[in-house]
Amino acid sequence: MKKIGLIFDLDGVIVDTAIYHYKAWKTIADELGFDFSLLQNEQLKGVSRMESLDRLLGFGGIKNLTDEEKLKLAERKNKLYVSFISKLTPEAVLPGVDQFMNSLAFENVGVALGSASKNAMTILKQIEYIDVFNAVIDGTKVKRSKPDPEVFLKAAAELDIDAENCIVFEDAEAGIKAAKLAGMKAIGVGDEQILKEANLIIPGFENFDFETCKRQFNL
Ligand code: BG6
Ligand code: MG
Repeated sequence: MKKIGLIFDLDGVIVDTAIYHYKAWKTIADELGFDFSLLQNEQLKGVSRMESLDRLLGFGGIKNLTDEEKLKLAERKNKLYVSFISKLTPEAVLPGVDQFMNSLAFENVGVALGSASKNAMTILKQIEYIDVFNAVIDGTKVKRSKPDPEVFLKAAAELDIDAENCIVFEDAEAGIKAAKLAGMKAIGVGDEQILKEANLIIPGFENFDFETCKRQFNL
């Protein structure tokens, strides 16, 4: 078997933080006086903080804010988000993820994080996952937001594995698109409707190990 790159998104794939991003943006929307639904939130998943703010303001029909005002809103959202994640412990790792990572021992794989979040390192420390990855590409290392493939291409380069030999795990529509644009295989983790462009969709990592993954992709 050729060496395979496994690239994991963080929020909503490894750890249940996607809901905290939603709660923080919802507070901002409430304060600005408009509704923000879970369905609308799907369009913010995988997207950088400032791009998420632009999309949120679009939902609320709010135009003409200055860059300074936008920066203040993004900072406020991040403060709320950071206060939520400050309480994270290893228990927040999603079901089956620890077992999947353990199933990689002795396999010919490189393991990377490919996340849009600038808070990724904080989260990895809190859930005690720093040592799990051979490479970490997060929001501090990329210029372009998913669906741009930059984050995954950088992860593959750091693993020194060709894109065609990489598999991405993603819970966001934008992330699946980014993986495809990078020339990688994409496993959607979550809702079948939202992730329909993925090569394979799993509800979560429970009952999914690397043997199953190899069978699915004839590795
Ligand atoms: C992604 C989330 O992982 O990170 C997005 O799916 C979020 O919802 C993005 O906007 C940026 O996160 P942060 O922590 O840098 O604001
Ligand atoms: Mg995600």
